[in-house]
Amino acid sequence: MLVYILTLFPDAIEPYISKGVLRVARDQGKIDVRLLNFRDFAKGKHRNVDDRPFGGGPGMLLCPEPIFEAIEWIESREGIFHKVLLTPDGHTFRQSHAESLTKHDRLLFLCGRYEGFDQRILDGFAWERLSIGDYVLSGGELPALVILEATVRLIPGVLGDEESPISESFTSELLDYPQYTRPREFRGSSVPDVLMSGDHEAIRRWREDQARHKTKKWRPDIALRGDTNKCDTNKSGIKKRDPDL
Ligand code: ADE
Repeated sequence: MLVYILTLFPDAIEPYISKGVLRVARDQGKIDVRLLNFRDFAKGKHRNVDDRPFGGGPGMLLCPEPIFEAIEWIESREGIFHKVLLTPDGHTFRQSHAESLTKHDRLLFLCGRYEGFDQRILDGFAWERLSIGDYVLSGGELPALVILEATVRLIPGVLGDEESPISESFTSELLDYPQYTRPREFRGSSVPDVLMSGDHEAIRRWREDQARHKTKKWRPDIALRGDTNKCDTNKSGIKKRDPDL
């Protein structure tokens, strides 16, 4: 997957993509992330990328020209990209968005700054507009990293164990069940006996039960969605929503 991130702050992004799962995916040759500062496409002595809104109002808007030129420069070399615009006005990013982003060979993220975008940037391309939550950040850099990491870790083979994303919270429409490792006793709290029983069917049932309870308690909104959709059981024994049912 070829990924371009258009940003005024490539130096803020570089350290994060050089660590952890994004680095692993890069070393495996599964992703190639390129950072492009669209200020490089701005004209004039000061290479301004923003200006005041016509009609008045607070703040500055990103001008269309450098962004159009940057995207045209990329696409004339690499072909057409699926383009993601990071904006608090977008659809709230969910695991299902990450799953569908893995299907694209070329992804482009545009990180805004300032008060917003000139409308011609929004109208000029077929954006997928995504928000990471109902709050306003000063730019799209953190949202781009959040979305990129959630997506890349779903590319088959990136996480060591191919099964591990399946039983995770959200992939299965239930939160993850509680897990324990050594020591068996810790400050008066012990690992549930069923996990030490060796009875795989009992463990599967216990985990499913725990996942349901936890989801009802902490995320009743998800529990409700799960109840209203027909389910099918995945390998981990957790009900998985079938999008076709
Ligand atoms: N840019 C500023 N705030 C944002 C948010 N919540 N999500 C995505 N992009 C943003």
